[in-house]
Amino acid sequence: MKYGIIGFGHLGRAMGRGMIDKLGIDPKDILVAVKSAESRAKAENEYGVTVCADYAEVLEQADIIFWVLRKKVFLELGDLSANPHVQNKPQVSFMAGISIAETQSVLGPVHITRAIPNLAMRNCESVTGYTACNSAEVEALFHQLGYAFCVPEEDIEKVSAFASCGIGFAALVMDAFVEAAIGMGFEAEVANKVVEELFISTAHIGDYAATAKAVATPGGATEQGINRLNEAELHRVVAEAMQRSYTKLLNF
Ligand SMILES: NC(=O)c1ccc[n+]([C@@H]2O[C@H](COP(=O)([O-])OP(=O)(O)OC[C@H]3O[C@@H](n4cnc5c(N)ncnc54)[C@H](OP(=O)(O)O)[C@@H]3O)[C@@H](O)[C@H]2O)c1
Repeated sequence: MKYGIIGFGHLGRAMGRGMIDKLGIDPKDILVAVKSAESRAKAENEYGVTVCADYAEVLEQADIIFWVLRKKVFLELGDLSANPHVQNKPQVSFMAGISIAETQSVLGPVHITRAIPNLAMRNCESVTGYTACNSAEVEALFHQLGYAFCVPEEDIEKVSAFASCGIGFAALVMDAFVEAAIGMGFEAEVANKVVEELFISTAHIGDYAATAKAVATPGGATEQGINRLNEAELHRVVAEAMQRSYTKLLNF
């Protein structure tokens, strides 16, 4: 099986890393297209993937195509509906803010699976929401790259705001913990390790509202900190952040 990844930037490389390091896929079976000489060298030297001359060569030689370009770049490719290699292989779009109908305006009337994964694909820990899929291989790959679930197309930008942008929100919150701990005098290395353990162990305990309540003994120390977070309306701020990303995605 030859996997075509058109656009080997942040997301394409995360996918490549997960496929090579975690799933044991031969890097030579990953065919990529990039634009710059710098990215070409990076793909060859750091990933060992097969770098094609351009997207058309990937289309011709790969069995499954993953479109991982920015929307504007993709739309500028023009009309590819007459390309015989588009018609006869699964076409998957990871591109945010571009509908199946818009994607078909470039690729023609073929089945498109839209999917929104996140950068944790690099560790096969992605969260991937995807629309109806016509390929068992593609669907299996999504599940191998992390937690995957099928959604109607109208929900795909919500997946993006929640689970893809969400990794950035989560990272920022964790960074705030690290910064606060360093501010109290902890070494950066210890602060980072404690934050990692805190978030992993909290995720394993689950039921976050109940956990927060269980730790916050009335009159105790945790309650003081939680009161401060509630004063700052943490839940409302997070909801607004997600909503703001969602609105942007709807107007890409
Ligand atoms: N980043 C995320 O976490 C994430 C999550 C979900 C969805 N997405 C979607 O994934 C897509 C890519 O995002 P990204 O963050 O990976 O962007 P990116 O880092 O800018 O990567 C874009 C890639 O496209 C390549 N490219 C540009 N023009 C090309 C052309 N004409 N032919 C072949 N390759 C070309 C670039 O090559 P050069 O490196 O040579 O410029 C680069 O490798 C976007 O549509 C985004 O909405 C991203």
